Amino acid sequence: MKTVIKKIDASNMSSEDFKEAAELLRAGKLVAFPTETVYGLGGNAYDSTASARIYAAKGRPSDNPLIVHISEFSEIEPLVSHIPEEARRLSDRFWPGPLTMILDKSDAIPKETTGGLDTVAIRMPSHPIANRLIKEAGIPIAAPSANASGRPSTTKAEHVIEDLDGRIDMIIDGGSSDIGLESTIVDLTVKPALILRPGYITLEMLREALPDIEYDRAVLKRTKDENIVAKAPGMKYRHYAPKGDLTIFEGDIDAVSGTIKKKVLEKLEAGHVVGVLTSDELAKRYSDITNARFIHGGSNAGSKENADARVFIYDIGSRENEAEIAAGLFDALRFFDEIKAEFIYAEGFTEGGLGQAIMNRLMKAAGYHIVEV
Ligand code: TXA
Ligand code: MG
Repeated sequence: MKTVIKKIDASNMSSEDFKEAAELLRAGKLVAFPTETVYGLGGNAYDSTASARIYAAKGRPSDNPLIVHISEFSEIEPLVSHIPEEARRLSDRFWPGPLTMILDKSDAIPKETTGGLDTVAIRMPSHPIANRLIKEAGIPIAAPSANASGRPSTTKAEHVIEDLDGRIDMIIDGGSSDIGLESTIVDLTVKPALILRPGYITLEMLREALPDIEYDRAVLKRTKDENIVAKAPGMKYRHYAPKGDLTIFEGDIDAVSGTIKKKVLEKLEAGHVVGVLTSDELAKRYSDITNARFIHGGSNAGSKENADARVFIYDIGSRENEAEIAAGLFDALRFFDEIKAEFIYAEGFTEGGLGQAIMNRLMKAAGYHIVEV
């Protein structure tokens, strides 16, 4: 299949830009598009064949339900059996935006879209291209993250091309996703409401609207073998994982950087290619490692120059700036695949607020391989 790449400038777009994409979606075909969180792989949410195509293109297990995207609140009505008051409250505060709500589904949504469940996940993205695409298509758009199953989610069109070129009909290139981590998922079919996946909309923000909301226990899990089943089916799979062996080091930052440096030198000695995921605060502590290449997140990330380097020190941003770390995390994990890192050592970040979402993704990427130093 030939994948059409279509550039759209959000600050200067017209209906004409969306004509082909909207026609493809109405015909049951697949179009990847930018959202404020990550890129989505869209198909007609009412069409079970389109959903089947999404699972096939991603190589995703078909029991892992898709999020249905809408462009205004009234579009929720045909998708759900009833609208709880909490949904209106959350919508007033956080939609359009990086929040997904789980509600009881109507019969109009096929089980293929919801991975066999009687509930449906719904989100109203704020990205102008996503919003316009849904409007122009005139149908709700089922869209998981636009990555090959198991790989880090995609925050740029180039990432989508890496994973899905030749497997889908179109990719809309609208630049980088600002937030960089997937939406917060809230289950409103239980009381109290539960956060199934942490994201940019934090527990603290949600409590202003729903004071008794809690994390689902699976969100707080910190080891692989804790026997807790995730309520969001997607959260139980190995996810976001780079190909190399990723370990997170937590504790006092002097001890963390000291231990990472020792590990790097050991692996270097044994002839391996090593990656370090670090911050502005700790990056300089690795400056005396010979043959290392320093990458500052976003800028020259992804370029393959200096092929002689065996150690790649990737500075993702300041520990004080969680939004910057969130926005660059998946790009960093993909970078380590590109340079074929065999071992990757990451410093842990502070949990709470947006840090909860950052550590949730990083711990999954590491298969919960966390070392306290
Ligand atoms: O930010 C986002 O949410 C992005 C953009 C494209 O909107 N989408 C996204 O979709 O991250 P995906 O498919 O990668 O993740 C959806 C998650 C999965 O963990 C899935 O199991 C869960 O949502 N989910 C979907 N429907 C559900 C349901 N009815 N009940 C529980 N979990 C559900
Ligand atoms: Mg995903």
